[in-house]
Amino acid sequence: KPRLLSGMQPSADSLHLGNYIGALLSWKELQQSHDAFFFLADLHAITVPQDPEALRTNTRRTAAQYIAAGIDPSASTLFVQSHVPAHAELAWVLNTLTGFGEAARMTQFKDKSAKQGQEAASVGLFTYPILQAADILLYQPHEVPVGEDQRQHIELTRDLAGRFNSRFGETFRIPRPYILKETAKIFDLQNPTAKMSKSSESTAGIVWLLDEPAVSAKKIMRAVTDADGEVRFDREAKPGLANLLTVFSMLSGRSVDDVVAEFAGGGYGTLKKALAEVIAETLGPIRARTLELLDDPAELDRLLAVNADRANAVAEETLATVYDRVGLLPRR
Ligand code: TYM
Repeated sequence: KPRLLSGMQPSADSLHLGNYIGALLSWKELQQSHDAFFFLADLHAITVPQDPEALRTNTRRTAAQYIAAGIDPSASTLFVQSHVPAHAELAWVLNTLTGFGEAARMTQFKDKSAKQGQEAASVGLFTYPILQAADILLYQPHEVPVGEDQRQHIELTRDLAGRFNSRFGETFRIPRPYILKETAKIFDLQNPTAKMSKSSESTAGIVWLLDEPAVSAKKIMRAVTDADGEVRFDREAKPGLANLLTVFSMLSGRSVDDVVAEFAGGGYGTLKKALAEVIAETLGPIRARTLELLDDPAELDRLLAVNADRANAVAEETLATVYDRVGLLPRR
């Protein structure tokens, strides 16, 4: 089976619809045909100020949401990044191969550091994409399924892998980004030209996976659309409506055309109401299963430990080769 790897930051107490549609839906599908590794990027989550207790809780909660959304921890390897020391170790080696200017060009760093103020941003935030490259390259994956916002980081990963290979000999597989065009970007309901994001200022435009149905319904009913009132898919002229149609299509498994055809005669209100129902039907069972899993944190921790062992076995092998290739003296 071809291998794949992906991960998310456990930086909020719930994932959102963008994470679900942009990542989890395809992970769930791809785990059937791939040897899949999915992890919780807790080392990435500390590149911005974090509350220690919240991070610990959110890491378990995010793991529970992966499983509740359909990731099978016995078929796929689902683990916590910090449980596999090789991530930080390989990141160090890759740091030495990355140009300062190259790192400075990463748009996510520019965005996030602008938010905090350049001076306040940590060096960890600056080297974030290099840790991400290490996450990926350790597992020699063929594919990395992510949303559009991660494309630049995958490009850097490919560059670093190629650079290492040409300098020290074939070591890393060059991974391909796996980005579905239709789902690559889910937008904020209140600001439909910005991506739905955990770090948005207001949460009115974010549907959380763990929202109660009444709460998600309210957010959908209040979603920003446009004044002309005609149901058709037009990303440029009607970004709000296009986003709702995309979400509808992805969650119901129907084509956008099919959804448009059903609601073309009616107003936005009818479409929104139906969408709120589709969301409740999709997220209801995920929410229930997540809460159930969180009722038994010891079992969840046990699963994560078993999976971390599997991940460590693969990661350590790659790291040993890397250390050898760059000339580090082996400890006998
Ligand atoms: P993160 O935690 O921000 O997001 C997790 C995944 O969700 C996707 N995503 C979206 N997709 C569509 N629409 C949206 N509005 C939306 N928001 C988020 C992201 O593209 C991502 O696939 N740096 C990564 C975590 C990471 C990682 C890795 C990913 C660390 N190491 C190695 C892959 C491979 C991140 O912050 O994702």
